[in-house]
Amino acid sequence: VKKLNELDVSGKRVFIRADLNVPQDDAGNITEDTRIRASIPSIQYCLDQNAAVMVTSHLGRPTEGQLSADDSLMPVAVRLGQLLNCPVRLINNWINGDFEVKPGEVVLLENCRGNVGEKKNNEELAKKMAALCDVYVNDAFGTAHRAEATTEGIARFAPVACAGMLMGAEIDALSKATENPARPLVAIVGGAKVSSKLTILRTLADKVDQLIVGGGIANTFLLASGKRIGESLAEPELVKEAQAIMDMMKARGAEVPLPVDVVVADEVSALARANRIPADEVGAHDRILDVGPKTAAKLADIIAHAGTIVWNGPVGVFEHAQFAGGTKMMASAIAHSEAFSIAGGGDTLAAIAKFHIAEDIGYISTGGGAFLEFLEGKTLPAIAALEERFDN
Ligand code: 3PG
Repeated sequence: VKKLNELDVSGKRVFIRADLNVPQDDAGNITEDTRIRASIPSIQYCLDQNAAVMVTSHLGRPTEGQLSADDSLMPVAVRLGQLLNCPVRLINNWINGDFEVKPGEVVLLENCRGNVGEKKNNEELAKKMAALCDVYVNDAFGTAHRAEATTEGIARFAPVACAGMLMGAEIDALSKATENPARPLVAIVGGAKVSSKLTILRTLADKVDQLIVGGGIANTFLLASGKRIGESLAEPELVKEAQAIMDMMKARGAEVPLPVDVVVADEVSALARANRIPADEVGAHDRILDVGPKTAAKLADIIAHAGTIVWNGPVGVFEHAQFAGGTKMMASAIAHSEAFSIAGGGDTLAAIAKFHIAEDIGYISTGGGAFLEFLEGKTLPAIAALEERFDN
């Protein structure tokens, strides 16, 4: 793809599609601003070159044509202004270009999913957006798996289309972990449900040297190996799939390491009383909410010997202290490892922040769904559109 830092954008009208879809609390305060910070280098590069900069993003999944106050990028405009140290005006109803932006100035164009046709990648809408700029920059790696008007359509019609700094960094780092990775390649896939991670589990089982599963996913694997899991979160209907993944790994000489001890309680809450027990002593009313210390040590040992680590998802309910031990020990093992590590996904980012290990991770992706689809080897439509423009 063509890259922004190879272009001279001085005096040009630049349209940057960023992914500023950040989590907020009920009062609308931004609770985690990694994505906003990650958008700064491209914006700053354009401002330094005296370009007239328009930035847009989606926020949440609003009904098209009906943005409510909750859908507004206003808190993002404020945060962006603080980080860039300059005012960032928020522009409503921008699609017809009825606004002004001067060279050296940056404006934020209100939630692009407010435009009718954005989600469906409407061609007329994409052409209207393309007409707003001389250069289109896609820096929204987190939305690269969506073919929408601001991520895919516009790339086909803008006079010039290129990848921003973040998009470039994401593609480079994720490619490093997937194409010819230093071995052993160890993947950690945690989280609540096998169903939401089935494709990635299958893909990884075909590529990695060790596959560690955690959280509700591990419970379904425990079921598949004949263990009792009491009232733990699991998907019994996917036991056969879990078995198939374990068989795939076994055929390659690496068993999926399942918990030998677990932390259980009878409810998920900050006050729940936790018990550490062997994995084959789980009672009928127990819920498995973390791996036990023996398991955590075993997983840490696998991680310590890795050449490359891919991490998506925690191994326990780390939001509560009594169920955080497993994820903490694993996070610490990743942080201390010499391996090249990449991590992605909302819960994983929250765990990295909680255990203060961001500095020690090789690369932290801003993608959730996009991160997984890239690792699955899927073509991400927004990246494909940039590649097509580069070739022609
Ligand atoms: C994400 O948070 O994964 C991206 O911003 C994409 O959001 P979406 O799933 O609403 O398209």
